[in-house]
Parts: sequence; C-alpha cells; structure tokens
Amino acid sequence: MNRFSLLLLLCIFISFCQQADEEPEVTSAPPIPPRVAVPFPEAMYIQNGCSACHGERGDGRGALSGKPNMGYLPNFNEPSTYRNGTSIDKISKSIVKGIPGTMMRAYPNLKSNEVKAIAEYIHKMQ
Ligand code: HEC
Repeated sequence: MNRFSLLLLLCIFISFCQQADEEPEVTSAPPIPPRVAVPFPEAMYIQNGCSACHGERGDGRGALSGKPNMGYLPNFNEPSTYRNGTSIDKISKSIVKGIPGTMMRAYPNLKSNEVKAIAEYIHKMQ
C-alpha cells in the first residue's frame, strides 16, 4: 500500500467519523405546521361521501341530490328541515342506524368518536 492510498483511507475514515458526529440533536419541538385547510370532521364528512348527497355545506345540494329516487334531503343549516331530530344525539343516531326506507343508509363502520365528531360538525351547521 503506497502513501497515497493510505492517505485516502485516512480521509475516508475521518469523513466517516464526522458524519457520525453530525447525528441531529433534539433541541426543541418540531416547528408548528401551517394551518390545515380541512379540519378533521369536515374531512370525514367528505371522505365518507356525506357531501355527495348532503352537499359540502350541508344545504342538501350535493352532486347526487337531483338524482331520481333520492327523495327528500334536509338542509343541515335549517333545523326546521330535519325530520329525525336536531340534537347531537339524534344526529348520531341517524348516522349509525340510517333512516330505513330512504337513501340514508346506516354507517355502522364509523367509530363512536368519529360519529360524534361528524354529528357535532353537522350540528354546528344549524
Ligand atoms: C346517498 C345519499 C346520502 C348519503 C351518501 C348520506 N346521506 Fe344522510 N340522508 C340522506 C337522505 C335522503 C336523508 C333524508 C331521509 C329522510 O327522508 O328522512 C338523509 C338524512 C340524514 C340525517 C337526518 C337528518 C334529519 O332529517 O333529521 C343525517 C343526520 C344524515 N343524513 C347524515 C349523513 C351523514 C353524516 C352522512 C355520511 C356519513 C350521510 N348522511 C350520507 C341521503 C344521504
């Protein structure tokens, strides 16, 4: 092994050690992320397809609202248009059990905290 390759090995070794030294230290909490545009309950309302019928604003004007057989759609912004109760409990029941005989199917797949979050979200639209 000549001097040059020995020097090269030394350089590689040193740079290796330096990399090990550059292990990031935790000095503070990560920076606060920018504001999320879609809050969690609103995202669930959209992801579960509620907005397709009820509309993103809950006004009953979703993309499917004009379709045949859709039947009556309440306006979540107008308590007088609800047929099954306007309280968070009643709204939760409509979501979990659905409304038999209508296009409002049951959503037993949702966890109870998810149902509550969506129900509160709809309740705030009133
Ligand atoms: C395929 C269309 C459709 C979808 C999707 C849908 N709904 Fe409905 N929903 C309806 C219809 C139609 C009614 C009215 C039923 C009736 O005649 O009382 C209704 C009624 C309701 C009611 C009761 C309102 C009242 O009159 O008291 C609530 C609450 C509700 N939906 C929430 C939701 C939520 C939350 C989702 C998503 C998880 C959802 N719906 C998805 C069609 C839909």
